Amino acid sequence: MSKSVLILNGPNLNLLGLREPEIYGSVTLDEIAGMLEDRARELDLEIDMRQTNHEGMLVDWLHEAQAKGVRAVLLNAGAYTHTSIALLDAIRAIRTPVVEVHLSDPKTRENFRHTSYIGMAAALTFEGHGADSYRMALEAVAAGQV
Ligand code: DQA
Repeated sequence: MSKSVLILNGPNLNLLGLREPEIYGSVTLDEIAGMLEDRARELDLEIDMRQTNHEGMLVDWLHEAQAKGVRAVLLNAGAYTHTSIALLDAIRAIRTPVVEVHLSDPKTRENFRHTSYIGMAAALTFEGHGADSYRMALEAVAAGQV
């Protein structure tokens, strides 16, 4: 079984640390990547963490996950979570399990964040735990929960 886990981050997540710190905290995406690298090593997994502000790039990377046979994808699609039928279709189009991740808990925020197209197709969701949402998702993959 592959040890590779692809971690995909969508729009505005490159600004973590600066962006609405009262909601998302002060940790940067690079710091989250470093924390996940350490945890992945302990779990005998390998991670490839990426960020893009472009919806189609996330679709392409989901297809790549399938082509490369990675074990799972962790996906924080940012605001595309609440709008993107293209991402819903992409997750349904691949056999690779996808775990939905959010720093905040969108269900406790504005109404327009209550619909998750990612959640309609994802195997599991971790949200509302800040950077720990990513760690918990990685641990779920290592534990064979997806
Ligand atoms: C987010 C939640 C989304 O509603 C928001 O658009 C984001 C970040 C999170 O990680 O909490 O960009 O995905």
